[in-house]
Amino acid sequence: MEKTIYGPYLAYLPLILEDFSNRIKQKNKEVKAETGYKLYEHFSARIKTSKSMTEKCHRKELPATAQSALKEIRDSIGIRIVCGFVDDIYKIVEIIRNFDDCSIAVEKDYIQNAKPNGYRSYHLIVELSTDFPDCLGNERGSYFIEIQLRTIAQDSWASLEHQMKYKHDIKNPKRIVRELKRCADELASCDLTMQTIRNLIQESSGD
Ligand code: GTP
Ligand code: MG
Repeated sequence: MEKTIYGPYLAYLPLILEDFSNRIKQKNKEVKAETGYKLYEHFSARIKTSKSMTEKCHRKELPATAQSALKEIRDSIGIRIVCGFVDDIYKIVEIIRNFDDCSIAVEKDYIQNAKPNGYRSYHLIVELSTDFPDCLGNERGSYFIEIQLRTIAQDSWASLEHQMKYKHDIKNPKRIVRELKRCADELASCDLTMQTIRNLIQESSGD
């Protein structure tokens, strides 16, 4: 069998991801039935490959062990939720906060506090109690999930910026940084307008 940094715990990661994803998807259905609006537009998830996790351990000068991969680094399981409207991001964060088996280990609001380059997103790292053993010898082990929540506009900016970051033969970096930041701010302004429009429609339809 091929060797993986996650050891025997690899088998649990997709099961944990699937269970968590299903709960979010179920909430989406409930909210759609209640309000007519989806909570989010796109949902994607991945298990970090053993190869990229091993590389990340090396980068962070950690030993390449299951413990580094699952306890020190906390994005072995990653979820991205892309919402139509900013308010829905905060609604989903509250839904996750209320899950009984889930505690929030790290919470970063890069929407209220955008990064200097213009990056906006809401980041959570949650710790989930599970029925599976973990690498510390707990029978009911805990596993981390990294969750990124973004609007469609924030997601398109982040994807394009990410692609362009890896092109190193840039001639005018200062101008490029400035233009990217300006673009992020314009998109943020559109997000606010979209939210306002939805609020106006909801108020005028009287529900
Ligand atoms: P790592 O430990 O390396 O994952 O980063 P961190 O602990 O500093 O966390 P942070 O919340 O800053 O970033 C985590 C993830 O958010 C990254 O792996 C990216 O997917 C995304 N991200 C953060 N900053 C940026 C950015 O400036 N541009 C883009 N495109 N993505 C970003
Ligand atoms: Mg991270």
